[in-house]
Amino acid sequence: MTSRRNFLASGAGTLLAGSVARAAKSDSTFPYAEFEAKIARRDFRDITKDVLPTPCMIVDLDLLEKNLRRMADHCKEAGIALRPHVKVHKSVDIAKRQIALGAIGLTTATIAESELMSAAGIKGVLWTKQPASRNNLIRAIALTKRDPTFMFVVDDPQVLDWVEEAAAAAKVKCRIAVAVFAGMKRQGIENGQPALALAQRVASSRHMQFEGYMAYSGGASHTKGWEARRRKSAEDLAGLQETLHLTRKAGLPINIVSGGSTGTYNIDKENSLTELECGSYVFMDTGYFAVGGKTNDQVYTDFEGSLTVLTTVDSRRHPNIATIDYGNKAMARPTDKVKGKPWLEIGNQGAEYGAVKWKDGEGEVKLGDRLEIYCTNLDMSTNCYDRYYVARGDQIVDVWPIMGRSGAAQR
Ligand SMILES: Cc1ncc(COP(=O)(O)O)c(C=O)c1O
Repeated sequence: MTSRRNFLASGAGTLLAGSVARAAKSDSTFPYAEFEAKIARRDFRDITKDVLPTPCMIVDLDLLEKNLRRMADHCKEAGIALRPHVKVHKSVDIAKRQIALGAIGLTTATIAESELMSAAGIKGVLWTKQPASRNNLIRAIALTKRDPTFMFVVDDPQVLDWVEEAAAAAKVKCRIAVAVFAGMKRQGIENGQPALALAQRVASSRHMQFEGYMAYSGGASHTKGWEARRRKSAEDLAGLQETLHLTRKAGLPINIVSGGSTGTYNIDKENSLTELECGSYVFMDTGYFAVGGKTNDQVYTDFEGSLTVLTTVDSRRHPNIATIDYGNKAMARPTDKVKGKPWLEIGNQGAEYGAVKWKDGEGEVKLGDRLEIYCTNLDMSTNCYDRYYVARGDQIVDVWPIMGRSGAAQR
């Protein structure tokens, strides 16, 4: 039998020998049996990227902090509040950093996200869906009781009836923002008189407090080209202007007008928003890189890619293609990009199998290589993983849980 020493001495390719040597070093020096215990006691000393199981998510801490500061500074300068959306990161650790930099609260997509963030002591959570199931209604009322700063939206008089009844029975006062149509058919009451009538119903209830409006233009967020985005945003939010005008005329105070996205963060003050619900700016994905910015029409460079999926090249038997362990289950997509190797293309080969492909003459990859991949859609990708390995360079400096992958009551 070839011993490890003989094998390495036999002149195997440098990288192969390198990977085996790396593995041998890890075998003898890295205590894999203690991996979870080390993380639990926050002992990251010898945890570097090369010992991590793949595929896994890596957050570049310096880039994350840069993105967080950039958005916070923009909002301060522009005079608009920030209530960042947590659907992208689903992480209390990141949410707390956003609050520390001046965010007035958080925006959530599910009641479970709202419960998690509120339980972490974060005030001013705005849930952007209405409670239309018994489960969601009971939980929204219970959360209001525990945390009177919690708010949610409503776009239908029927739901207001349900909220009214449940709030009266629980003797709580719910904070409500009326969701108005902003270009997407998924949500929002018709602007103008219908929106005002719903707002007046909220304001006249003893069990509800009218906070204002939510108008989220998801169609504008990924419109390519900054000027086109600006036009789309204005178009989608034109109806909102009428609603605001009628509401002021009716003498109803408006505390918040919430909406906006990473794509329109430097646009939507023009469209009367008082606060931004941006989410993706913390990490960025290839969907957003492609929309172009105010100064660079081709690539959106306002925020940097701070999140990657680390993968290993684990088979390489054919020309111009290698297999990686980032497959369908890990949310591999052909529109993903490889960090530092933009010529490589990502392909799908099965649940646990992905591919990297290249053309002759382009740089190729070798067995055992580790690659970092920018995903296409953050929401979908972070939903597949249960933790972020937080890195400074190659060193892991922290591990943050991602909610909802291990038995949370509802994702
Ligand atoms: C209601 C709502 N607000 C804000 C956002 C944040 O958008 P982005 O991640 O594009 O910044 C989203 C994203 O889907 C959303 O659904």
